[in-house]
Amino acid sequence: MISVLYIDDDVPAHKTMKMLLADEYRILSAYTGEQGLEVTATERPDVVLLDLNLPGINGIEVMKRIAAGPIAPPVIMISAQGDAASVVEAMQSGAVDYIVKPYDVRKLTGTIIQAHANAFQFRLGASPGSSSALDAIIGESAGIRRVKDLVAKCAASHAPVLISGKSGTGKELVATALHRLSPRAEGPFVVLNCGAIPLTLIETELFGSERGAFTDARSRPGNFERADGGTLFLDEIGEMPPGAQVKLLRALEEKRVTRVGATESVPVNVRFVAATNRDLRAMVAEGSFREDLYYRVGVLPIALPDLKDRPEDVVYIALHLIDTHSSKKKRLADDAREKLFAHSWPGNVRELRNVIERALIYAEDDTIRAKDIVF
Ligand SMILES: Nc1ncnc2c1ncn2[C@@H]1O[C@H](COP(=O)(O)OP(=O)(O)OP(=O)(O)O)[C@@H](O)[C@H]1O
Ligand SMILES: [Mg+2]
Repeated sequence: MISVLYIDDDVPAHKTMKMLLADEYRILSAYTGEQGLEVTATERPDVVLLDLNLPGINGIEVMKRIAAGPIAPPVIMISAQGDAASVVEAMQSGAVDYIVKPYDVRKLTGTIIQAHANAFQFRLGASPGSSSALDAIIGESAGIRRVKDLVAKCAASHAPVLISGKSGTGKELVATALHRLSPRAEGPFVVLNCGAIPLTLIETELFGSERGAFTDARSRPGNFERADGGTLFLDEIGEMPPGAQVKLLRALEEKRVTRVGATESVPVNVRFVAATNRDLRAMVAEGSFREDLYYRVGVLPIALPDLKDRPEDVVYIALHLIDTHSSKKKRLADDAREKLFAHSWPGNVRELRNVIERALIYAEDDTIRAKDIVF
């Protein structure tokens, strides 16, 4: 959750602020400039909201000291109407933005997201090549933070993980992160997409085959054996035919596999991760997915939220994509941000990636504008 420090001597205003923002942000409060500087240093808020009129050291001075400090989070000034001169002074002393009272919640959250996203883009530029696999999962929403927490927790375990989410929500990205963060990171990461292989081949792909099993069959290890010591990622597990489901269940229970056409089984040591964009529970209810397999593969569930339910992530992911897809630094104009923010993203992050790739081609200079965003 993004933390926001609100500095204002007006006590009732703190209550209002909490009411408006506490669902989406962690709100920290300070009632004087001195206190605000102290909380900035100790709590390292992501964004500061600073009222201009403060007793003791005034808003402009607080602004200057925050900007000069070692942490320097982005500061948004809050001013009363008709205080244009102070606004100019605030911006010149380093405020990234300002809002005028009375403000509405959309304007306020929009300004916070933008201020934080800009600081975030700055950090991206400052530290290329982040080391943790978790850093590849971009987003600041409560939903995506929960996912990242789960990934970190599940990575150390050997238990099977079931990743669910609509198409393009990042299931494969999460599976990769799970592997990279796990003690098996040095071992193989083997992907098998059950939706992409013909039914007749699923078993030989999973378990391998022994010479003579079919007329032209050669001895060949399957994905289970190839993933030995690492992770086996079974994508679109909901597409798996019933016959293969039984065999998969047996392999998971016994930790052994038998190649098609072989008589002996061999032990395998794999961490099993599956993904699905279907409702497996409903499939169990209608009889197309085995209940026992469902419980076996779904020990640790990770559900990915739709992008439309975490609109604040759109800007972060867009900026990340812009940074990774273009060699020259490009910025996102306000009208382009708003257009991205308002879209419903039926294709989730994959759609966003396509939109940004196109926008980078359409943009005529170093700024991506609303007209370059085409859905
Ligand atoms: N939170 C995120 N941060 C950065 N990139 C992301 C994020 N989520 C998804 N992506 C990117 O979006 C694209 C689609 O993600 P991915 O392939 O993991 O989705 P998926 O859920 O497996 O989709 P499908 O069901 O269609 O296979 C990839 O390029 C991935 O890197
Ligand atoms: Mg996928």
